[in-house]
Amino acid sequence: MERLVFALGLCLAIIQTIIANPVEVNNINQLQNAKKSKHIILKNVVVPAGVSLDLTGLQPGTVVEFDGVTKFGYKEWKGPLIKTQGSGITIRGRNGHLIDCEGRRWWDGKGGNGGKTKPQFFHIVLTDSKIEHLNVKNIPVHGFAINGKNIYIAYVRIDNLDGRTQGGHNTDGFDVANAENIRITNCYVDNQDDCLALNSGKNILFEYNICKGGHGISIAPWGRSFDEVRDVRVIGCQVLDSRVGIRVKTGADARGIVKNVTYDNIVLQNIRVSGIIVHGNYRNTGQMGKPTAGVPIEDLTINNVRGNVLKDGTNIQIYVADGMARNWKWSQINVNGGTRKVECGGKPNNVHVQCG
Ligand SMILES: *[C@@H]1O[C@H](CO)[C@@H](O)[C@H](O)[C@H]1NC(C)=O
Repeated sequence: MERLVFALGLCLAIIQTIIANPVEVNNINQLQNAKKSKHIILKNVVVPAGVSLDLTGLQPGTVVEFDGVTKFGYKEWKGPLIKTQGSGITIRGRNGHLIDCEGRRWWDGKGGNGGKTKPQFFHIVLTDSKIEHLNVKNIPVHGFAINGKNIYIAYVRIDNLDGRTQGGHNTDGFDVANAENIRITNCYVDNQDDCLALNSGKNILFEYNICKGGHGISIAPWGRSFDEVRDVRVIGCQVLDSRVGIRVKTGADARGIVKNVTYDNIVLQNIRVSGIIVHGNYRNTGQMGKPTAGVPIEDLTINNVRGNVLKDGTNIQIYVADGMARNWKWSQINVNGGTRKVECGGKPNNVHVQCG
C-alpha cells in the first residue's frame, strides 16, 4: 500500500513537473513536440525561409513566450511569418526579447502593391486569448491580422521606423476583420500605413495606443461583401508625425455599414495630409472620384480631438454621399494648422466644423 501511494505520488510529481516546466524550443524542429506542453518558450529561434512559425494546434490554456531574438530566413513569399489559431492561448514576450523581421530585405517602396512578394507578419485566429508584451521590429508588409473573438492585446510594440527611409510600405500595425470583443491597449506602432485598419467587426476597443509615422487610426470597411463595423471605441490615443490622424474610409462601391463608432480624447501632432477625414470614395490607390452610397455611417461620435496639421494639409474633410451621414455627434474639435483646400460633401447640418 505504502509503495502504491509512493508510486502514485511520484507519478503526480512527474506530471506536475511536465506541466509546470516550460519546454524550451531553440530550433523550429522541436516545436511540434513542444506542443504537448502548455508552456512553450521560443528562445533565439531562427525560422527557416518560406515557412511560418506555426503556433496552431496548441492545447487550450497554452502559454507561448518569446525569448531572445527571433529571426526569419529570406524568401519572396506571402507568409505569414508567424501564425496562430486556437482558444485560451497566451502569447507574450519575455523581458529583452525581440522579434526582428529584418524587413529591409524585402522593402522596395511598393509594399503589397507590387515589386517583391513580401511575407505578412502574423496571422491570428483566436478566441479567449491574449497577446502581450511583444517587441517587433521591421515587418516586411502587413503586421498583425486579427480575426476572432475575445482577444486582448496589450503592450505590443511595432517599431518599423527604419521603413521610413528604407522603403517600408503597407506596413499596417493591426488589421482587424471578422472580429468581436477585441481590446487593443497600450501599444506603440511606428510604421508606414494604418496603425489600426478595422475592416469588419463589433465591440472593438482601441485605447491608449501611440501611432507614429503611419496613416493613422482607420475604420475601413471597403470590401465587396457586406462589411459591418459597429460598436467601436477609440479612446486616449495619440497620432504623431503621420499622414492622417483619424479617419473613416469606406470603399468606393463597397457595401456595408458603420454604426456606433466613437473617437474620444485623441491627440494629433504634425499630421501631413488630413487631421480628421471621413470619406466614401476610398481606393487602394487613394481617394478617387465621387463618394458612393453603399455604406451608411451612423452614430459617429467624435469628441475632444485636438492638435495640429502641417501647413500643406487639411484639418478636416468630410466627403460622403448625400444621406450617408446619420446621427453624428461631433464636439470639442480643435484641429488646426492645415491650409490645403479640398472638396467636401454630405456633412450633416449639426456638425459644426470647418470642412475642407
Ligand atoms: C455602442 O458601442 C459601445 C461599445 O463600443 C456599447 O457599449 C454601446 O452599448 C453601443 N451603443 C448602442 C446604442 O448599441
